[in-house]
Order: sequence, then C-alpha cells, then structure tokens
Amino acid sequence: MTDYRKIVFGKTDAREESAEYPDLLMNGYFPVDNISEQVLKTDKFIILGNKGSGKTALSEYLKLTSDANTIVDGPSLKSFPFKVLGKIVAGESEPVLKHKLAWRWLLLVRVLQNLVLDPDAKPSTKKDLRKTTEFLVQSGLMDVDSLSDLVKLTSSLSVKAFSIEHTTREETADVSLDLIINYVKDLVVGFKESHRHLLVIDGVDEILTARGIPFLSVVAMIHEAQDLNLFFRAGDLPVKIIILCRTDLFERLPDPDKNKLRRDCSCLFNWYPEGSDAAKDSDLMSMVNMRARLVFPEVDDLFDEFFPSDYRGHEIRSELLGFTRFTPRDLLQLLVSIQHRCTAPRVSAETMEKGLVDYSLEYFLPEIKDEMAGYLPFDSIDAIMEILASFRSREFSFSAFDQAVQQSARLSGLSSSDILKVLFDCSAIGLASPSGEGGQFKYRNRHASCTQSDRFVIHQGLCKGLDITL
Ligand SMILES: Nc1ncnc2c1ncn2[C@@H]1O[C@H](COP(=O)(O)OP(=O)(O)O)[C@@H](O)[C@H]1O
Ligand SMILES: [Mg+2]
Repeated sequence: MTDYRKIVFGKTDAREESAEYPDLLMNGYFPVDNISEQVLKTDKFIILGNKGSGKTALSEYLKLTSDANTIVDGPSLKSFPFKVLGKIVAGESEPVLKHKLAWRWLLLVRVLQNLVLDPDAKPSTKKDLRKTTEFLVQSGLMDVDSLSDLVKLTSSLSVKAFSIEHTTREETADVSLDLIINYVKDLVVGFKESHRHLLVIDGVDEILTARGIPFLSVVAMIHEAQDLNLFFRAGDLPVKIIILCRTDLFERLPDPDKNKLRRDCSCLFNWYPEGSDAAKDSDLMSMVNMRARLVFPEVDDLFDEFFPSDYRGHEIRSELLGFTRFTPRDLLQLLVSIQHRCTAPRVSAETMEKGLVDYSLEYFLPEIKDEMAGYLPFDSIDAIMEILASFRSREFSFSAFDQAVQQSARLSGLSSSDILKVLFDCSAIGLASPSGEGGQFKYRNRHASCTQSDRFVIHQGLCKGLDITL
C-alpha cells in the first residue's frame, strides 16, 4: 500500500543530499531545461539560478553520473580567502586585472593537477612530463587540494619558489607570476587528453551572506573562465570551466559586459515558465512526482494519490506552490514539513495546516532572513520582520511601512525604499494585485520592480511564521 510518509524527498542542500542519498540525486534528478546537456554540449559556462534552484544539485549530478569519458571536479568557494587572493599579484595594475591574473593562476593550476592525476592524459613529450612533475612537486602544488589552500600556499611562497629551472635567465628571483602562469599554460596545453574535464565552481552563493561582497573578484573569475575556455578550445584540449552563480548576485556585478555574458554564455534554471498558471504541468510537479515514483512506481500523481483535492477551496497544487518561490528546495521542504506531521498514509487537511506552520517558521522565514543578510545589516532584519508582522494582514501600503521604519530606532540610517527593494528582491513581498488575489513576485517576473506600486503583499510562505492570518 502506498504511504506518503515513506517517500524520500531529500535534503535542503544538494551536497548533503548527494552524500546521504546519492541514489536520490542520480535517479531522482529532473532534467530541468536540459541544463546538464547544455553544459556538456554547448559553450555556455555560466549557470544562473536563484537560491535553492538546483545549482549544487547540477554539480553533484554531473559528478555522480559522469561516464568513463568525463572527469568532473567540483571545487567550492565556500570560505574562500578573497582578500588574500587580491594580494598575490604584486605591482600597480588595476585591481580587476590583478584578480584576473590571480584567477588565471588558480584555475590553470587546478586544471594541471587534474590532468596529471588522470593516467590517460599525457604530455606530448617525456621531457614535458618530467618538467611538469618537477614543477608541481618542487613547488608543493601537488599536495594542495582546495582552491583556498592554493591561494594560501601562493601567498606564503615567493614567486621564486615556483620558478624552478624553466626560466632561461639566471636571475630567477625577478621572475614574475606572469611568467610562471605562461609556463603553466604551456604545460597544460601540451597535454594530449581524450577524456573530457569539467571544472565546476560552486559556492559563489555563500559570498552573498558575508560582509563586503568581493564583486570585483567574481567579475574577474567569470572573465578569466571565459578566456581560458576559449584558450582550451583553441588548443584542442577538452577542458571546460563552469561557474554556478546566484542570479541576484550576477545582476549586481559591476561589469559592463554582463548582458552579453548573460545572453551568449549563460543558462538559467527556470522551473516554472514566467506568466504560466499551469501548476499541474510545471517541471516542479514533474520533479516531485519523479521522487515519489522512486518509492512507489505505481503513483502517477503525488497530489492525486496523497493530498486532499483543495486547500481552502482552491486547487491544491497551485495553492501549495503559492507558499514557495518556485524552487525545488522550497517545494521539497514544504512536502517534508507536511510529512513530519503525518500520522497516516494520506495527508489530511489538519496535517497540511500543521506542516505549513512548521515550514513557515522553521524553513521559509529563516531562508528569507538569510537571503536578506546579503543586503542589509544583520541586526536590522529582525526589526524589519517585526514591522511586517505588526501589520497583522498580508497587504500593506508604502506609507504605513515608511512610518514604521521612521519610528524604529534599530532602522535609523536605512531608507524605507531601500528596505522595500531588498524585501521585494528576496521575494519576501510582492506587488499587491488590484483584484486582491495573490500578488506579483520577483521570482515570477524578473523584470518586475517594486517602484511599480505603492501597495504590497507579504509572501504566503512568511505569513504563518509572522502570525498573519491568510
Ligand atoms: N533537477 C533537480 N531534480 C530534483 N531535485 C532537485 C533538482 N535540483 C535541485 N533539487 C533539489 O533541491 C534542493 C536544493 O538544490 P541546491 O542544488 O542545493 O540549490 P542551490 O541552487 O541553492 O545550490 C536539492 O537538495 C535537491 O533536493
Ligand atoms: Mg548551492
């Protein structure tokens, strides 16, 4: 007999999910927008998506399912020492160029390490093999396994330590990082390789929760990845660097070429076509059904099988999606919260209600606060949430919000419109619709702006956490 409680929906974060339930990621990965195909078959190398849209899941899926001909390396930028990185290049050049050079170094060394570790990849001559091994061993680079450690090693050694016997001149102390980089570049492109190497860089998301976002370094990394990908292609080396990046961070990058990069080089996770109302046919629904079928292959539709047909008089799927920002993480966590409250094989209206309260309090509210922390001082966030809660209803006006902000000592120095913009960009609030039904949220229409209206609506997912009646 089928039982909702037995379905495994997975973990909040794909890296943990991959460690705990690798089969779930391998067999329960929904090919949204065929992004994994696009990564493998096109030149696109920037993968954009909101928080929880499946960026890490893509990287883990590629790792778990790569065939014998593909090698996937997924270094993370979590806790990456950006400040130190900016200092490893000496001289007076523009900071962005220094960062670009530093990234060239990091990425090339990582690619070289991967090529050396692959027994099938061979430098064209024996002499090259000897030079490569000598270079990596003498400089200590062979033992470094994270990008962070590579930065630390580079900054602690003088360039001289890397300069081995490859320079033709005697005065090796003067050798610049530039020269060493070109040396590594030659070593890399000298390899003959039949396997495909993917270097998938994740963790750019975490930067947003830290203070002082290193925008410049992220821009430099993206441009360097683009240049190196072109260089590898020209040298007929099957290596590709891929960068996973939160859409909102990408939008904020101070880069004049951003639009060009977005159009020509990026893919976007889009789980629910903009403007569409067909909840039943969305990829999100297909994804959860796929996971349900791993346990109960006979289940055609998770909601038909286990849920009441409506929630407060409306179609169940659209209603439940209204509690999410249309990301797999939100929807899966909502289903998990309901599951934790389940005491029978099917979900009752009462169970659903309890699950939605838990979801709002334990998942959605903290998630939104986390997201806001990338944009506003940490201690202002609770004060803002208290203001939203004080309205006691989902809808509010700009003037009511402005008045409350003016009166809050904890928010002095912050402007109401700036705070509203952050709330809107994080989808904590949307534009109130004239009909009073729902609202327009950023995740449904990325061109929407909070200046288009002076009436707002609080996201349904937050309401129970803020004790606002729906
Ligand atoms: N294509 C997918 N198919 C099935 N589940 C997915 C997919 N993408 C993401 N998920 C689920 O959503 C959760 C959050 O995804 P994750 O990759 O961690 O998001 P982020 O974009 O923040 O890195 C994952 O743990 C996984 O359970
Ligand atoms: Mg992630």
